[in-house]
Amino acid sequence: MSKTAIVTGGSRGIGKATAIALAKEGCDIVINYANQESQALEVVEEIKSLGREADAVKADVSILAESEEMANICLEKYGKVDILINNAGITRDSLIMRMKEDDWDKVINTNLKGTFNCTKSVIRPMVKQKMGRIINIASVIGLSGNPGQANYAAAKAGVIGFTKSIAKEVASRGIMVNAVAPGYIQTEMTDVLSTEAREKIMSHIPLERLGNPGDIAEAVKFLALYASYITGQVIVVDGGMAM
Ligand SMILES: NC(=O)c1ccc[n+]([C@@H]2O[C@H](COP(=O)([O-])OP(=O)(O)OC[C@H]3O[C@@H](n4cnc5c(N)ncnc54)[C@H](OP(=O)(O)O)[C@@H]3O)[C@@H](O)[C@H]2O)c1
Repeated sequence: MSKTAIVTGGSRGIGKATAIALAKEGCDIVINYANQESQALEVVEEIKSLGREADAVKADVSILAESEEMANICLEKYGKVDILINNAGITRDSLIMRMKEDDWDKVINTNLKGTFNCTKSVIRPMVKQKMGRIINIASVIGLSGNPGQANYAAAKAGVIGFTKSIAKEVASRGIMVNAVAPGYIQTEMTDVLSTEAREKIMSHIPLERLGNPGDIAEAVKFLALYASYITGQVIVVDGGMAM
């Protein structure tokens, strides 16, 4: 029987590449988006052209009720959620002295609370079916910290702690929970970087290129569909930058 996956923030970037990679492996996919419906619908069409089922749901992951609604749409259609990819995320960068309370709240609420909300929304059905894979998209910034990204680093470090805790809670129920920590990946999130900042980052990457969304999707696909004895881990996919 085909597997069913929810990929949050699947309308573009890493989420889109992940949704398509899982669909190519035979999964039916529910993606969500926050605002950009047209991009989400394009992803749905691309997945359907691969012969798989796909739906796009407007749901703000920072709101529990909307995360539950997204999970329910998946459960009603497929009767199960096999895989959850907690990918939706945002940045609101600034140095601590200039960081507004709203910048802190939005980043924590989307990146960290959103991961809690979506996990909470699928965990009971996963426990019931005694099988599940949850992959949380963290960041190398959650491991190393970064000036100007205290909110983002705190959220991603939180995602890593959350991953390990939930992995321990649900391991006996056949559910494996891991995190993927990308380095610098070319998406709309990093399009805002100046050429100077980009060159500085490049000088720290042994593989001498920024990553692309497909690089992350491959790691997620492995954890979601092929790994059988890995849980509570953080797989760093960064071209060697953080080593
Ligand atoms: N790019 C990198 O270098 C990099 C590095 C490390 C980690 N990451 C992490 O990887 C993940 C994906 O990043 P990306 O670069 O692919 O980002 P992106 O291109 O900016 O896409 C972000 C996605 O998240 C969705 N989203 C944002 N806020 C949301 C909310 N409140 N509720 C539901 N969906 C929401 C967006 O939906 P809309 O299109 O509707 O706005 C979009 O689909 C994030 O968690 C990010 O922190 C990225």
